Amino acid sequence: MISAATSRSSWFYDRLTFLYPVVDIFLKPQKQKLFEEINKYAPGQLLEIGVGNGTHLKYYTQHQVIGIDSAQNMLAKAEKHLKPNIQLHHMNGEALQFPDLHFDYIVLSHVIAVVDDPDKLLHEAHRVLKPNGKLFILNHVTPNNWVRFIDKSFERISKFAFFKSVFHLSDLTAIKRFNLIHDINAGFFSYFKIMIYEKAL
Ligand SMILES: C[S@@+](CC[C@H](N)C(=O)[O-])C[C@H]1O[C@@H](n2cnc3c(N)ncnc32)[C@H](O)[C@@H]1O
Repeated sequence: MISAATSRSSWFYDRLTFLYPVVDIFLKPQKQKLFEEINKYAPGQLLEIGVGNGTHLKYYTQHQVIGIDSAQNMLAKAEKHLKPNIQLHHMNGEALQFPDLHFDYIVLSHVIAVVDDPDKLLHEAHRVLKPNGKLFILNHVTPNNWVRFIDKSFERISKFAFFKSVFHLSDLTAIKRFNLIHDINAGFFSYFKIMIYEKAL
């Protein structure tokens, strides 16, 4: 049974935890770029959804951070990287247990194409963000070049690894509730992007 704090993909990530450091080597340069952007913003209340094994928590230098994840094993790893400005909770990003208008910033790093229902996640992010709050998304986005054929060829297999290889943010209805204010290339022929959105009123 899926409890309020878990999701279908947490089953997979609970088992992938021991392998994630290998994935992390590949993701590290993109995450460093993401944090250069996040740390340009004034100190505030920040929620990271799908915090994973938390090796990047050290980059949160100025914000008050709550990190959540639906996979207990990932959270157990993340706890080793705790700092005084960070709290961690076992929670499903698609059913956040926070009041409306609570956070200045929300971070989704390689999460939006992994959750069961990305639209639900964005609706929840919109609900808990303050007016003009910022949403940082780091993810692959299927481009309109030859790379799209690679994504297409992995589409069926990727479902077994609980992610969507073919992924277009514009397909999500809830993204219309945010305005894009920055779109930064994070590498590999514009495949990885950092997108900074502002909550639309
Ligand atoms: C690809 S990992 C990314 C981890 C980290 N953000 C990073 O950039 O390295 C995806 C993470 O999202 C978590 N996750 C998946 N679905 C979730 C959900 N509905 N709510 C919260 N976390 C979720 C997984 O357990 C996993 O730790």
